[in-house]
Amino acid sequence: MKKIILHCVINGKDMSISIEPDATLVHVLREELHMTGTKIGCGSGDCGACTVLVDGISVNSCIFPAIQAEGCHILTIEGVEADPRLARVQKAFVDYGAVQCGFCSPGMILSVIRLLSRNPHPTDEEIRRGISGNLCRCTGYQAIVNAVRSLTDPSPDMSIRKTRIEDLPIVLDIYSYARNFMAERGNPKQWGATNWPPAELIREDIRCGKSYVCLNDSDQVIGVFYYEYGEEIEPTYRKIEEGDWGDSGPYGVVHRMAGNGSQKGIGRFCIQWAYQQCGHLRVDTHPDNTVMQSLLDKEGFQKRGIIHVVEDNDPRYAYEKL
Ligand code: FES
Ligand code: FES
Repeated sequence: MKKIILHCVINGKDMSISIEPDATLVHVLREELHMTGTKIGCGSGDCGACTVLVDGISVNSCIFPAIQAEGCHILTIEGVEADPRLARVQKAFVDYGAVQCGFCSPGMILSVIRLLSRNPHPTDEEIRRGISGNLCRCTGYQAIVNAVRSLTDPSPDMSIRKTRIEDLPIVLDIYSYARNFMAERGNPKQWGATNWPPAELIREDIRCGKSYVCLNDSDQVIGVFYYEYGEEIEPTYRKIEEGDWGDSGPYGVVHRMAGNGSQKGIGRFCIQWAYQQCGHLRVDTHPDNTVMQSLLDKEGFQKRGIIHVVEDNDPRYAYEKL
């Protein structure tokens, strides 16, 4: 059979691989690329030993046609080992005795990474459901659940509600704090150049019910952001350069996110809340905003390309989490 070329990104590396048109993904990984970390158990889609992530979705690579991965980002256990943010999952499995023969572990770890990317604070039942496609014949599942539980941060004492008009003065103070914070960290232009965002825009966000505040455990406003969900809701995202969005379906968007610095994790909490509302979130940020870029990387967003905004001529990095 005439071979074809598969183009994809495996563990962050661009690849062009000559494959049989009917090859499975696990065959390509193990036999063509000698990446033998991905295991084959049943070979028929039942045990989950061969689980890898394709564009963030877990698939049984033993029945997944490699050709379907054209243009996709693939994460295997080798990529987990190389990334300290993901390797902590593998370490927890070792620390909690969740590995015996280890045959199920690569696939199980990939399923856990998928689970935590969608739900950073799963209950035990959600953990069990998240790994239900992965069979383990050695450990029983409690050690695995304990390992995963050790990775879920306790939920911070924060909450989200819609912004009220009486919150406006404190919201304006938060934006003022954020502009200084950004300027001190090498990003003076993103909001500083135009004193962004203007009070009229925030008033309009509140009027439309699309502005949200983050509250601390005393119900004080400590953060603010814009959130909206729907089909093609952000006109400036219709044109994307140097890449493409991963999913063209309805999405949530977060803009104008800022915290007052009174405690750690405000941005993270807001982003996680927004993602939990929709399961498909898009965000953009200025190339100089390394703080936001680092947060988005840690929260499992992928950089998709460049977009342009109406408020200035600087490009923006476009991020997406599926
Ligand atoms: S080897 Fe793929 S599901 Fe069992
Ligand atoms: S550790 Fe052996 S099958 Fe899970």
